[in-house]
Amino acid sequence: MHDQVRIGLLGCGNVGAALVRLVHDHADLLELRAGVPIEIARVAVRDLTKDRALPLPANRFTDDPAALVGDPDVDVVVEVIGGVEPARTLIVDALMGGKPVVTANKELLAVHGRELFETAEGAGVDLLFEASVGGGIPLMRPLRESLAGDRIRRVTGIVNGTTNYILTRMTDGGETFADALADAQTLGFAEADPTADVGGYDAAAKAAIIASIAFGARVVAGDVYREGITDVTADDIASARDLGYVVKLLAVAEEDDDTVAVHVHPTMVPARHPLASVRDSFNAVFIEGDAVGELMFYGRGAGGAPTASAVLGDLVDAAKNLVDGRKGATVGTLVAKQIRAIDDVQSQFYLHTEVADRPGVLAAMALAFGEHGVSIRSMQQQGIGDDARLIFVTHKAREADVRATVEALRHVDAVHRVGSVLRVIGDEE
Ligand SMILES: NC(=O)c1ccc[n+]([C@@H]2O[C@H](COP(=O)([O-])OP(=O)(O)OC[C@H]3O[C@@H](n4cnc5c(N)ncnc54)[C@H](OP(=O)(O)O)[C@@H]3O)[C@@H](O)[C@H]2O)c1
Repeated sequence: MHDQVRIGLLGCGNVGAALVRLVHDHADLLELRAGVPIEIARVAVRDLTKDRALPLPANRFTDDPAALVGDPDVDVVVEVIGGVEPARTLIVDALMGGKPVVTANKELLAVHGRELFETAEGAGVDLLFEASVGGGIPLMRPLRESLAGDRIRRVTGIVNGTTNYILTRMTDGGETFADALADAQTLGFAEADPTADVGGYDAAAKAAIIASIAFGARVVAGDVYREGITDVTADDIASARDLGYVVKLLAVAEEDDDTVAVHVHPTMVPARHPLASVRDSFNAVFIEGDAVGELMFYGRGAGGAPTASAVLGDLVDAAKNLVDGRKGATVGTLVAKQIRAIDDVQSQFYLHTEVADRPGVLAAMALAFGEHGVSIRSMQQQGIGDDARLIFVTHKAREADVRATVEALRHVDAVHRVGSVLRVIGDEE
């Protein structure tokens, strides 16, 4: 019988420190909602000498995370250390010891999610992870619970705030990628080493978790096709605008009858699509389900307080379940589904080419498209001296066929350059 729930907090950085403040500031509210008081009993950090200026006595801190997990005075473990180890071992030990775990760790779940869900299932305790995708945006619970009765066909998300901020700057101010990145770093929206964000790795980890939960499938980060935004040019953004699109880094997870496709790449989104209006460092996730139709969740995908808000929601749930002696909603069995190779994924495409402005060029290019079964939806020509810039948007086509078309275009005599090739969503479903 629990007359209070005592939290063991692993990590006290951006998210952990915000959680300590929220638990302190919202103590009354939390007690009402959980039915018992929630208190932070122990906090494990790496550096005990850091001044953290938190409303917690110094003797609650330890630099021994394993001892915290095993401490009989800890009822629920919150993991906000990040990375794979020691987080994975600590979470497994907590679950095996019968303690519910709340984590925000996308990197870990995107690789070891299935093993951890099975461990939680076997131990009969909660493993909750709302904050791992979309920071403060409720997404995992809606997918697991509210939408459990529907068949989700596709989830399309802007799930990385850094890249959305950079692309917004490039769109609004015509900045180059390098300038917009430097600006994001100055404002603290991008890390000194921005690879995880601009290379699309962070979005790919989140896409794997989304696909696992939305489709009940075993999907890991390595299954996700990934392109970052480093090659997106100011020219692409301007052409997109002329054609009525904005460029966004999208994580797309889709399921047809027997395969799942998960891909992350810069994409042209029609200006009228709800995702086009998601600006700056905001995130949004657009869900299409058979019965529910279209849904969109929008908000702060990162930051200490928004992320801690999601962690705390999970904590209240875990605390209530502990008090009631039951386990909450499960992820269910993640089944092995075939992952569709990127070659077989169908999209519309935007192709930017520069060619000699002379008779017969267009016919030669049209032949290259036709020979590979890629049908042109629209073409725009802009004169640039003796040359011309031709921008094509295709109808839906297989990735492999578009790649073969690009290769063939490069061999057309009058084609000087095939520049950016971007996927396009929202015109043909
Ligand atoms: N920040 C966000 O906006 C955000 C959003 C969504 C999800 N997340 C996820 O939340 C998690 C935490 O992110 P964060 O930004 O809060 O990270 P952070 O600021 O780097 O904090 C990490 C904390 O873990 C502690 N730590 C690291 N290794 C440890 C070890 N071996 N033993 C004990 N403590 C250890 C650190 O201790 P010291 O303080 O002593 O260095 C620090 O307090 C990550 O999984 C991240 O992906 C973060």
